[in-house]
Amino acid sequence: MTNNNNTQKLKGFDIHAVRKQFPILNRKVNNYDLAYLDNAASAQKPLSVINAISEQMSHSYGNVHRGLHTLANETTEAYENSRIKVAKFLGVPKAANIIFTKGASEALNLVAYGLMNEIQPGDEIILSQMEHHSNIVPWHFLRERCGAVLKYIPVTEQGNLDLEVYKSMLGPKTKIVSVVHMSNVLGTINPVKEIGQLAHNSGAIFIVDGTQSTVHMPIDVMEIDADLFCMTGHKLYGPTGIGALYAKTSIQERMQPFNGGGEMIEDVFEDRVTYNDPPFKFEAGTPPILQAIGLGAAIDWYSQYDFSEIHAHENSVYNHAVEQLKSIEDFKLIGSAENKGPVLAFNINGIHAHDIAQILDKYGVAIRAGQHCTQPLMNSLGIHSTARASFGIYNTIEEADRLVDGLKRAITFLS
Ligand SMILES: Cc1ncc(COP(=O)(O)O)c(C=O)c1O
Repeated sequence: MTNNNNTQKLKGFDIHAVRKQFPILNRKVNNYDLAYLDNAASAQKPLSVINAISEQMSHSYGNVHRGLHTLANETTEAYENSRIKVAKFLGVPKAANIIFTKGASEALNLVAYGLMNEIQPGDEIILSQMEHHSNIVPWHFLRERCGAVLKYIPVTEQGNLDLEVYKSMLGPKTKIVSVVHMSNVLGTINPVKEIGQLAHNSGAIFIVDGTQSTVHMPIDVMEIDADLFCMTGHKLYGPTGIGALYAKTSIQERMQPFNGGGEMIEDVFEDRVTYNDPPFKFEAGTPPILQAIGLGAAIDWYSQYDFSEIHAHENSVYNHAVEQLKSIEDFKLIGSAENKGPVLAFNINGIHAHDIAQILDKYGVAIRAGQHCTQPLMNSLGIHSTARASFGIYNTIEEADRLVDGLKRAITFLS
């Protein structure tokens, strides 16, 4: 079951109709039409997401789960419906395997904390050099607190994971393998199914950071056979403050809860406590109710489209931009894997990425510059930072041209 199967789709991908649904795309920045090319950092929100949250607050708001009144029950239904939508989106049969978190970072922190008791000194955790800090720092906690040894799958010059080296790293001490599905810098889409099979053959728990991939490809967590898989709402045209973690039932049983408080308990006595069933065991306190409902609305909105049409559109804008940029002397594309999503990281020899981003902003073109929370990747590539344009559903060829024109002007100005 993949996320692309079960929803009625709109016929034909109409970019103008898509753009009309994003009020922010009408605004000017520095007297230019906004060209928002920072989608890998966070995406803009369509009206249906904005309205879903505002309607919930205006008409039917209460706390979830513990209410005996209509508003609490309605809100609970909407919140739990969103869990079902996330499950369906990820190809997961049972909604109970979906834990709401405040984002992908919190999901990965929950996993690392939850599995802490499984780690003995000298146990090995395999990550990759292209991980976001969110999939590195929580494992450093296990290195510091439990004596875990962190190992990193190297990245080739093209931007692929070196799977031969990975194979040689696996062994009886490997307890966890945690890798990103799609890199937020290189755009590389990693062969997670193969990486997972190898991890499982070594008896390791396999975790996938799906923060970027969920936006650019159909996801089937069952097919990948990940033990844990995380995503975030704000990059998928949903609100901030909401993410989701899929965890296999057997892993949910092994994981310790991360936060304590209301809702996650079954019984609390002065001398002991018992926990609620998953997913509630991992959702202490009042959850991000409105954000979860907003994420459900984002999934509904996104799922109206044929995913292959969205991705073909995004890739055509990306390819158009790369083709133009290649003609610029001193342009260096960072990440040229064959299988990659629409993330365009680059450097211009002799010009700082921050300067490029600031000049592009003067022309209304929003990109990001810096290390993109991937310092080990930057170190492995021998660079300090990159500029990064990242494309989403509403970007156009004309905006790609504006990126190229703005960059040419920036180069003239800065050289
Ligand atoms: C690959 C990857 N993992 C994790 C994260 C963290 O996601 P969140 O903002 O939901 O904590 C990001 C955010 O940029 C990311 O790109």
